[in-house]
Amino acid sequence: MEFSVKSGNSDKQRSACIVFGVFESRRLSAPAEQFDQANGGLLSGLIGNGDMEGRAGQTLLLPTPELPCERVLLVGCGPADKFNDNAYRRAMAAMAKALADTGAAEAVSYLSDLEVKGRDAAWRVREGLLAVSDALYRFERLKSKKNARPRALQSLAFAFTADPGAAAEEAIRIGRAIAAGVSMAKDLGNLPPNICTPSYLAEQAEALAKEYGKLTTEVLSRPQMEELGMGALLAVARGSREEPKLIVMRYQGGGNTKPIALVGKGITFDTGGISIKPAQGMDEMKFDMCGAASVLGTMRAIAELELPLNVVGIVPATENMPGGAATKPGDIVTSMSGQTIEILNTDAEGRLILCDALTYSRRFEPETVVDIATLTGACVIALGHLVHGLMGNDDGLVHELLAAGEVTGDRAWQLPLYEEYKEALESNFADVANVGDRAAGTITAAGFLSRFTEGVRWAHLDIAGTAWKSGKEKGATGRPVPLLTQFLLERAGRG
Ligand code: BES
Ligand code: MN
Ligand code: ZN
Repeated sequence: MEFSVKSGNSDKQRSACIVFGVFESRRLSAPAEQFDQANGGLLSGLIGNGDMEGRAGQTLLLPTPELPCERVLLVGCGPADKFNDNAYRRAMAAMAKALADTGAAEAVSYLSDLEVKGRDAAWRVREGLLAVSDALYRFERLKSKKNARPRALQSLAFAFTADPGAAAEEAIRIGRAIAAGVSMAKDLGNLPPNICTPSYLAEQAEALAKEYGKLTTEVLSRPQMEELGMGALLAVARGSREEPKLIVMRYQGGGNTKPIALVGKGITFDTGGISIKPAQGMDEMKFDMCGAASVLGTMRAIAELELPLNVVGIVPATENMPGGAATKPGDIVTSMSGQTIEILNTDAEGRLILCDALTYSRRFEPETVVDIATLTGACVIALGHLVHGLMGNDDGLVHELLAAGEVTGDRAWQLPLYEEYKEALESNFADVANVGDRAAGTITAAGFLSRFTEGVRWAHLDIAGTAWKSGKEKGATGRPVPLLTQFLLERAGRG
């Protein structure tokens, strides 16, 4: 898909399809008004008949063979006074879906010209691009009959009645890079667990390094992890026939500055291990590597943008399987940090692979560490599917991440990480247990991780509720690639 920015009067555009917003009830937006007046009240006449109220998500396609444009698409935007970030993204998504159903290969959209409170033209272009590319995403790689459209939409111009300036052009570049990262994260998440194995993730990371000069990838295998004393990560890998991998991607665009480390949970399938999960919906545990996928996607986005930063992406990758050699409830292992862990529940495996990856991240002397993990079912209960759970040991960092989420609509919500919660993980036999009781499961999981990030500025994103959708729309969301990329853009002074 090609995206561009265009400016000029809405009645002068030659296009296969021109798109206008309509507010509730039946109120033409300014560019639509301009077009309407130049064309003898064509639109006002049509919406007068009640076919387009302007409700959010509503669309109406009008063939206009006698005009310079072949069609007009009207998109309902809801009440004008409630046209906020979310309504804007919804309108863009509704437009994309409607355009995909037409024969138009190209379109000019004036939705980007609509005012969104507190957001400039560059934001509208970038977020419009992301909403469109999200709405048009399909995962059909493994279908033998592709759902090919005859003349799928190939290019879209974000149109403005007045010149939006150079920042809008730059927004295309940034939006495209983030969209590519999101799409990569979705693909990795959606791939089945027999294809997307730890080795596959490692290959993808190596392919990224081939594509981008400033990116290098190193993959540590089991013997190297043994050498490093990663007893927690290896305890999770014991039950699997697939080789575990510790993937280390280094993006170097920031000279001698200290890096930011991103650590992503890469469980390519979580059966629960000996503490096995129920059968119902277990297929969705192929998405348990979405933290890892978001790290790869973000590395792609920042490499594409050539941000002036150093970023290390670390992905501990393994399956969590039962088996004759698998770790048993009650086993005690020694983590790379030296702390001993009593594994009371083999299904609390994410924290076990992350703790060793977090310890490993210290060798890069990171300025900041952010880990991303589909860590707890409790997070889905607490926050649902809208926001990521966010905890950390540094308020400044937490606020940066919260703010990055607001800009991109990829929002997080902070939960309290008080010391007292950590008492739940006391063990009679080891330094720490890997689970507490059911209470505050998201926080006690983060509390476990915090024992491995002492003295490091650190935050943790629990994406268990946000990384994928279930039901009819089952599929990875690509989140939190937008949040992470925005955070890094801000760090690079390009926010
Ligand atoms: N990958 C799961 C968490 C999860 C569950 C994410 C459901 C999304 C939906 C994680 O490894 C896990 O199994 N966590 C356990 C922890 C418990 C044993 C303390 C959980 O949440 O049940
Ligand atoms: Mn688990
Ligand atoms: Zn898991």
